[in-house]
Amino acid sequence: MKILLLGSGAREHALARALASDPATTELVVAPGNPGTAAIATNLLIDPTAPEEVVELATQMGADLVVVGPEAPLVAGVADTLRQAGIPTFGPGAEASRLEGSKAFAKEVMAAVGVPTAEVAVCTTREELEVALDRFGAPHVVKDDGLAAGKGVVVTSERAAALEHGLACLAKEGGRVVVEDYLDGPEVSLFCVCDGATVRPLAPAQDFKRLGDGDAGPNTGGMGSYTPLTWAPEDLSEQVVREIAQPVVDELARRGTPFTGLLYCGLALTSKGLRVVEFNVRFGDPETQAVLARLTSSLPELLHAAATGHLADTPGPTWSQQAAVDVVLAAPGYPGTVTTGGVITGVEAAEAVEGVHVLHAGTGLSDDGDLVATGGRVLSIVALGDDVAQARQRAYEAVSRLHLDGAQYRTDIAAGR
Ligand code: GLY
Repeated sequence: MKILLLGSGAREHALARALASDPATTELVVAPGNPGTAAIATNLLIDPTAPEEVVELATQMGADLVVVGPEAPLVAGVADTLRQAGIPTFGPGAEASRLEGSKAFAKEVMAAVGVPTAEVAVCTTREELEVALDRFGAPHVVKDDGLAAGKGVVVTSERAAALEHGLACLAKEGGRVVVEDYLDGPEVSLFCVCDGATVRPLAPAQDFKRLGDGDAGPNTGGMGSYTPLTWAPEDLSEQVVREIAQPVVDELARRGTPFTGLLYCGLALTSKGLRVVEFNVRFGDPETQAVLARLTSSLPELLHAAATGHLADTPGPTWSQQAAVDVVLAAPGYPGTVTTGGVITGVEAAEAVEGVHVLHAGTGLSDDGDLVATGGRVLSIVALGDDVAQARQRAYEAVSRLHLDGAQYRTDIAAGR
């Protein structure tokens, strides 16, 4: 199978690694790729968000499958143009991609099929505020809509205190107050491979979105991940498919915009039950790095079956009993203004740790041939182990062998899991 993979992050390096190592793959081109994918595939420099450029490359190489990594090409309609050209493509069209691009669209689809989501009510009157407080129940989350995220938020079990804060927000000129569902449980990412009709879940994973240990500091693209989630209900994946992914996929098919690709269900396991926090329409980063490390069945065959509408006749994915932990190494300044150009050393030493491989994201080669940081998230250090604790210990041993001046990483990824 000749495969074209679009993207350039550690997620795409993880995808490239799983595709390239499978005997079903005869040729793999990554566009634009990174120094890590260059070692296992052919990198070609095109604009992955330009539909005509992508179709031209896929046609030239006679691609049997195009796998779209990031969301930007999907939103730009690259998958639509590829499918119109008759090229099997793993990735939804622009309309179905609105599940990620438009929160309002996602909420509307979920409401249409009764999917439980983290609800939000925007109130402009006392009456609306009181109705929302009673509908969501305690603990109450009341947020001043006029302030930046995270400010002016009161979380309280006391209805009177919630009402008082809400009324104070409303009293301001043009005051609007947002009442939200309180998500009191852990978050889980479940990736569902879809062919427009059939849904196959991958292994659930958890990511760590904040920059600092203990979930301190600003939000990032993700600073680490692990799988399996031994603490999660055993039937979690079946439940998510039954109650969330399958109804959404059926609804999009009914609307004439079938979802072919990866439906990323971002979930909270709350005391009130499962809640969808968000949908994304592509593999998550950094969860993919950990999830694919445990995949023992063929990724190209799975994605090709999805792209060609044959998932129902294809066996589901199988998994190693081992655990995987991914620690992200970021450049100084991330997620703010990043300092690039720092020389990275120790990759070979890190990969000498048992069970470890290092995936590239924001890396490049300097004129002197040094590996240097070129972006915010620089490397993903992935370790397999007999359990999460061993995988974690190996990942951090590998991290200790890497050097990048001012590098940032969390020291508590998968701690105590
Ligand atoms: N892990 C978060 C994301 O991929 O958006």
